[in-house]
Amino acid sequence: MGTVTRGTTNPNRLRRMDRWIAATHGAALRRAEDPVAVDLGYGAAPWTAVELLARLRTVAPRVRVVGVEIEPARVAAAKPYEREGLVFRHGGFEIPVAQRPVLVRAANVLRQYDEGEVAEVWARICARLAPGGLLVEGTCDEVGRRHVWVALGAEGARTVTFATRLGSLGQPSDLAERLPKALIHRNVPGEPVHAFLRDFDRAWAAAAPYASYGARQRWMRAVRDLTADWPVTDGPARWRQGEVTVAWEALAPRGR
Ligand SMILES: C[S@@+](CC[C@H](N)C(=O)[O-])C[C@H]1O[C@@H](n2cnc3c(N)ncnc32)[C@H](O)[C@@H]1O
Repeated sequence: MGTVTRGTTNPNRLRRMDRWIAATHGAALRRAEDPVAVDLGYGAAPWTAVELLARLRTVAPRVRVVGVEIEPARVAAAKPYEREGLVFRHGGFEIPVAQRPVLVRAANVLRQYDEGEVAEVWARICARLAPGGLLVEGTCDEVGRRHVWVALGAEGARTVTFATRLGSLGQPSDLAERLPKALIHRNVPGEPVHAFLRDFDRAWAAAAPYASYGARQRWMRAVRDLTADWPVTDGPARWRQGEVTVAWEALAPRGR
């Protein structure tokens, strides 16, 4: 279910997303009786699935990863990389896996669909999740320096995470070009995500004196300021990594 799109991928591209998943969802994967994670739309090469397995195993040693791709030649190309805990399957949003996955990660997949298709795809995937399962859906640049993703549970969207390599950041709104499909067309005046990025840029500018201690200190100060007006759901341990997570309702498009 879905359509074949460009297969662009890169080794280590999704490291920020992998680390966040391991930190925030590791306990659920550890607890699960049958901890299956799906890398949906892994692309022209299987690197992101191989890396997801390695990173999740550090926090949940019994986890298994299923790479799912809608383009059959990409499945055939990935097969030689199967190993204990990692298989590749042909399929789409229906997720052709017998078990209910505890995690579905879809990176750089929905960006090539229409905005109007997102809600239905989210609902379809969330309906397949195991109890306590998580869908992480988002977008990043080709080398994974700028990343924005939405995390969803069975009940729907929960949070939006912005993650960046701080050394290469001009200002927080640089991340706007990597907003996931549900938000990218909403970065216009009058929409919450636009107001959020405007406030983030202001907080970043106000935190300029902290730049002499490094971009990390500046980011942490700017995020701390943002917490006065925006429902930031994480804390300094994540901010230190160049991340910030905000409740979905605060950024959701108007009129939803
Ligand atoms: C741009 S690549 C992303 C690869 C990798 N996830 C990454 O971030 O580097 C998108 C891939 O998603 C696949 N795709 C698109 N729609 C899909 C669907 N409904 N189910 C499974 N794969 C899909 C495309 O065929 C393509 O290979």
